[in-house]
Amino acid sequence: MRTCLFLCLLVLGATAQGRDSREEKRKQTKDLRRFIQLLEYSYDDPNYLSHASMAKRRSELSEKLEQIAVKLSPKKRKKLKDAVGSYMALFGRADFPKGSQKAYSSARATTLELFRVVLIPSQSPNFSVGKKVYEKQCQQCHGSEGKGDGIYTKNPKIKMEPPPKDLTKQFIEGSRSPFSYFNSTLAGSEGSSMPKYEFTLSAHEMWSVAFYMAHSWNRNDRDRTGTNAKVSMESISKMTGYELKALGLNDQDLRYLRDWRSFDPKTPRK
Ligand code: HEC
Repeated sequence: MRTCLFLCLLVLGATAQGRDSREEKRKQTKDLRRFIQLLEYSYDDPNYLSHASMAKRRSELSEKLEQIAVKLSPKKRKKLKDAVGSYMALFGRADFPKGSQKAYSSARATTLELFRVVLIPSQSPNFSVGKKVYEKQCQQCHGSEGKGDGIYTKNPKIKMEPPPKDLTKQFIEGSRSPFSYFNSTLAGSEGSSMPKYEFTLSAHEMWSVAFYMAHSWNRNDRDRTGTNAKVSMESISKMTGYELKALGLNDQDLRYLRDWRSFDPKTPRK
C-alpha cells in the first residue's frame, strides 16, 4: 500500500514535471517566433521608430531578446546579443533600413543558427494548395495581390490597427523569406488582427501559402518564363530576397520557386 502510494506520487510528480517542461518549451518557441517576427518587422520601414505602435514593438523586441537569450550558453548568448545589438544600434538612422542591411542579415542569421530554427518544410509546398488557402482565408485582409487592400480593410466597421502591410513593397519583399511567412502564419501577430493558424491549418497548408505569398506577386519579372535553376528549394527557402541578390541567385532561382511544377508534392524534396 505504502509502496503504491509512493509510486503513484512519483508518477504524478513526473507527469506534472513533464507538463511544466512542455509548457515551458512551448513558451520558449513562442518567444522565439515572436522575436524573429519583430526583428523582421523592424526592418520594414525607414520610419520604424517614429510610428507609435512600432516604438512599442521596439521595446518588445528588446524584451524578447532577453527572454530567448537566457536559454543559451554564455558564449552563445554574447554572440546573439552582439549581433542583434549592433543592428538595433542603427535604428532611427536616416538611411535605415538600407544602411543596416548587413547588420540586419547578420542578426537574423545568427538567431536562426543559434536556435537551429527549422527553415524548410518536410513536404514540398504546393502552390495550388497555397493559392486556395490564400483566396479563402487571407485575401479579405491582405488583398488579391498582397497589397494589404482586401475587402475587410475597406469596411468602416472593421478597424485594423496596425493594418495589413503592402507585402509587395520593396523593403518587405526583400527582407522576407518563405520561412518568415510561415512563421507569421503559424503564430499570428499579437496586438493586431492577424490570427494565428497553428491549430486551423496543417503545416503543409501553411508552408504552401507561405511560398505562394513569398513568390507569386512577382514584381519585376512577372513575364519571364523557363526554369533551369540548379539551386535546391532547401537553400532558397532559407534566404531572404536580399540574400538571394547578394549571392547573385537572382531571377533564375526565384523562377525555380515560381514554377508550380517544382512544387508537385509527389516529387520528393532533394
Ligand atoms: C482579419 C484580417 C487578416 C486575416 C484574415 C489574415 N491576416 Fe495576415 N495580417 C493581418 C494584419 C493586420 C497583419 C499585420 C500584423 C502586424 O503588423 O503585426 C498581418 C500580417 C501577416 C503576415 C506578416 C507579414 C509580414 O510583414 O511579414 C503574414 C505572413 C500573414 N499576415 C499571412 C496571412 C495568411 C497566410 C493568412 C491566411 C491564412 C492571413 N494572414 C490572414 C490581417 C489578417
